[in-house]
Amino acid sequence: MQVMKRLDAIKVEFEKAVDACSDVSSMEDIRVAFLGRKCELTQILRNVSSLSAEEKPLVGKQANILKNEFARKLEELKERLERADASGKAEKIDVTLPGIKRRLGARHPLRSTLSRINDIFVSLGFAIAEGPEIETEFYNFEALNIPLDHPSRDAFDTFYVEGKHVLRSHTSNVQIHVMQKQPPPVQMIMPGRVYRPDAVDASHSFMFHQVEGLMVDRGVSFSDLKGVLSIFCRSMFGEDIKMRLRPHFFPFTEPSAEVDISCIICGGKGCRVCKGNGWLEILGAGMVNPKVFEAVGYDPEKYTGFAFGMGVERIAMLLYGIEDIRLFFENDVRFLKQFI
Ligand code: PHE
Repeated sequence: MQVMKRLDAIKVEFEKAVDACSDVSSMEDIRVAFLGRKCELTQILRNVSSLSAEEKPLVGKQANILKNEFARKLEELKERLERADASGKAEKIDVTLPGIKRRLGARHPLRSTLSRINDIFVSLGFAIAEGPEIETEFYNFEALNIPLDHPSRDAFDTFYVEGKHVLRSHTSNVQIHVMQKQPPPVQMIMPGRVYRPDAVDASHSFMFHQVEGLMVDRGVSFSDLKGVLSIFCRSMFGEDIKMRLRPHFFPFTEPSAEVDISCIICGGKGCRVCKGNGWLEILGAGMVNPKVFEAVGYDPEKYTGFAFGMGVERIAMLLYGIEDIRLFFENDVRFLKQFI
């Protein structure tokens, strides 16, 4: 039974070759070597008729079984190789391709304005304090000498929330928190969001940002206030900017002033932005009212101080020439892109 032994050997060789095969082209070599026209198995099948009557049926049957088995195994091998090839391709990274450009974001114009304001005051020795946006009437009004019948306490000028709480209408509430927590000297600015129920239009928003400042010590005078504010105005808008103070009224300061700068567009000649009068109002300020000191337990006989407050949106609008406050809050990339 020489031939039957050969068939067993061919089967072993075939299986070894299939195990070692890792790509489609060597698989084709195996097909030629074990199923091809000139291969041993084909020769054996072709010569079955010349075998003895005893061997003929055995060899014929076994050779055909092997032929079918080899064909099936090669088919399986092919599928396996193609699957491996496909997943290999999916993972392949072409390192020569140009990279995906990540576009850099930029700071919002309000943020960059706010940080410029902060930087100027920090360089003058002011620290930064923050406080709650939901506030009691005491911190938003009473302690600031805003009496119950003051028009700003009207529901039309302040958002009332549950109980006796309001959304703060200015960041002056933080002045009270700061002074309650520490004795003088105080030298702080208070940036943050504030809320007023104004109808939204080009120059009003129900939410905007303020930076208020407070300096309290023995002997702080109105000229200190004027000095600090004029350094601020020149650092913010340029060395040639002029500043003037106009008498005004705030319940928490006495005396009080509104602060104007010479128009940054026309230099004071009069234009559309300054409505022809050459000046732009940018701040409210004054000497802290002794009643505020009493509310926080400071001795008004010993200490004096100044306070000021400004709207960040107003300053950003002047700096960048933005004509509609709503643009800050609409998140329109066409607007924001200009500040990259
Ligand atoms: N709190 C005032 C406002 O919201 C601003 C201000 C602060 C004025 C401090 C004077 C002194 O308009």
